[in-house]
Amino acid sequence: MKPTIPKLPLLLKPFFVSLFFSFFLLTFLCLSRSPHHRKPTTGTPPPKKSSSGGESNDLRIRPGYASYETYIQHQLNKTLNPKLRAVWTTRDWERKVRVFSRFFQDLKQRHFLFNESKALSIGARVGQEVAALKLVGVSDSIGIDLVPRPPLVIKGDFHAQPFDNGTFDFEFSNVFDHALYPWKFVGEIERTLKPAGVCVLHVALSRRADKYSANDLFSVKPLVELFRESELIAVRKVDGFGLDTEVVFRKKNKV
Ligand SMILES: *[C@@H]1O[C@H](CO)[C@@H](O)[C@H](O)[C@H]1NC(C)=O
Ligand SMILES: *[C@@H]1O[C@H](CO)[C@@H](O)[C@H](O)[C@H]1NC(C)=O
Ligand SMILES: *[C@@H]1O[C@H](CO)[C@@H](O)[C@H](O)[C@H]1NC(C)=O
Repeated sequence: MKPTIPKLPLLLKPFFVSLFFSFFLLTFLCLSRSPHHRKPTTGTPPPKKSSSGGESNDLRIRPGYASYETYIQHQLNKTLNPKLRAVWTTRDWERKVRVFSRFFQDLKQRHFLFNESKALSIGARVGQEVAALKLVGVSDSIGIDLVPRPPLVIKGDFHAQPFDNGTFDFEFSNVFDHALYPWKFVGEIERTLKPAGVCVLHVALSRRADKYSANDLFSVKPLVELFRESELIAVRKVDGFGLDTEVVFRKKNKV
């Protein structure tokens, strides 16, 4: 007898409500999954140092990279350049290995590097630095770059190193200026270094590097800010293929 029709909307109410929310949720998910939002895998914001007198002006990221892909493409363009690669592996090879050997020999004499060190060269190109490390007796050494060159260099992005935490005793790089995210570059070094591990960077402070550089560095100060888990232990002038300053950090032992 009772009419059943008025009951129907009441029963349907939860259904419509959930339909409404599902639609909302779907729209939100679609929007947040657009390619533009997914890409910045390494885009952690730069560390804000509470003590700093403003973000150091001595480190400037070069504008003009629309996306991480554009940046990687640009870097690959240099690394894959057949003419450059030919020069690196022939005419350049001996000279570079000789000069890097001297740098590494010197670091050994200063007890920053040992035959037994597990060593990494970051942005190793065709592997001259790794060859030099092996030449001075550091046999357990490897390099990473966007383009691998086995057995000396394996594929790896310095913004996301393909290694576990605490892997290396020693890391060397002369490509800091290529880092689009310097805080990530340094963060990865500190992550993969063992406690008390040493990082040596060759950087250009007094001249601007090439068009493949992604940042410009004008003093050691930004590095000291970026290496939050390490201590600056040495700075000196070097003549390293356009790079003029050698900076040495030691990762702190965990307290
Ligand atoms: C790569 O280099 C070539 C010439 O060497 C140039 O024509 C091209 O535009 C470059 N591409 C990028 C993505 O930089
Ligand atoms: C380290 O290795 C080099 C080259 O193989 C060798 O000449 C040197 O004696 C070694 N040094 C030590 C302390 O073992
Ligand atoms: C590795 O180190 C990072 C940064 O120091 C830390 O966030 C992460 O939890 C560590 N991972 C492991 C497996 O210990």
